[in-house]
Amino acid sequence: MLDFKIASGRANRELAQNIADYIGVELTEVTIKNFSDGEIWVKYEENIRGVDLFIIQSTQAPAENLLELLLLIDAAKRASARRVTAVIPYFAYARQDRKDQPRVSISAKLIANLITRAGADRVITIDLHSSQIQGFFDIPFDHLYASPVLIRKIFQLGLTNFVVVAPDIGAAKTARAYAKRLNADLVIIDKRRPEHNVAEVVNIIGEPEGKNVIMVDDLIDTGTTFIQCAEALKRRGSLDIYGVCVHAVFSGNALEKLNNTDAINKMFITDTIPFKGKSDKIEIVSVAELFAEAIIRTHDNRSISSLFEIER
Ligand code: R5P
Repeated sequence: MLDFKIASGRANRELAQNIADYIGVELTEVTIKNFSDGEIWVKYEENIRGVDLFIIQSTQAPAENLLELLLLIDAAKRASARRVTAVIPYFAYARQDRKDQPRVSISAKLIANLITRAGADRVITIDLHSSQIQGFFDIPFDHLYASPVLIRKIFQLGLTNFVVVAPDIGAAKTARAYAKRLNADLVIIDKRRPEHNVAEVVNIIGEPEGKNVIMVDDLIDTGTTFIQCAEALKRRGSLDIYGVCVHAVFSGNALEKLNNTDAINKMFITDTIPFKGKSDKIEIVSVAELFAEAIIRTHDNRSISSLFEIER
């Protein structure tokens, strides 16, 4: 008999279902409702006493998704689940991970505290905005990378004569790992943010002239970073530009901007956040299999790092 179960919140049911299908289990029955004032109510509809429970919930906006995760963890603990793992395909509020100016919050730490205090015994997530956020938790934390599935897609493009571009310094480490795996040179863009949601390309470090481009970032939000960087690269003489990003937040008119720019040929995104828009430029690459493998291995106490071959 399987002594682990998988439950899902409402933030990304499709991914949760795909993970469960890959493993070959049914999702645990959970009722989640909203009262008339919007408050959330959750109930496990089956016995989870003594179970190794994995709760899948991304935490993209609205903040109710986070709250739903906390309630699911709390209910599971109170129902005597043996171990509760919060599986968070998109870990939101991660970008505020330090005090970069006076009198601001460190939201990533606050979220870590909330998840831990709610009762999670461990966490699994993928492509955190910065790896150091793992240290905000004092419980075991498994950090997955979407690179194996995304790099497979890049290979399928059959591109030659290309460079890998980090659209800002923060993306440089990940981009370097992609460049190494793809045997390509690295270009780093010096991006500044004069204010929230505004990006300016100050300098391009490297040689993108006459080259195709694979631009890699952890997330696309307003799309400003990707589009500004792609346009700057075009002005410098780059050829075709392909974007690779794990978390497709796409707030405001980001998708419209992407559809309207000639600077980006194609974007590969993953399904950590449900993508509801329409675009010929976007191809979704699923991370369901990666999460499924991570869940199985966590349950069996087997290595997770062996899922990832690329060096960081
Ligand atoms: C920033 O450090 C992140 O890695 C992304 O580059 C950024 O958050 C993307 O935001 P936007 O799409 O709004 O420029």
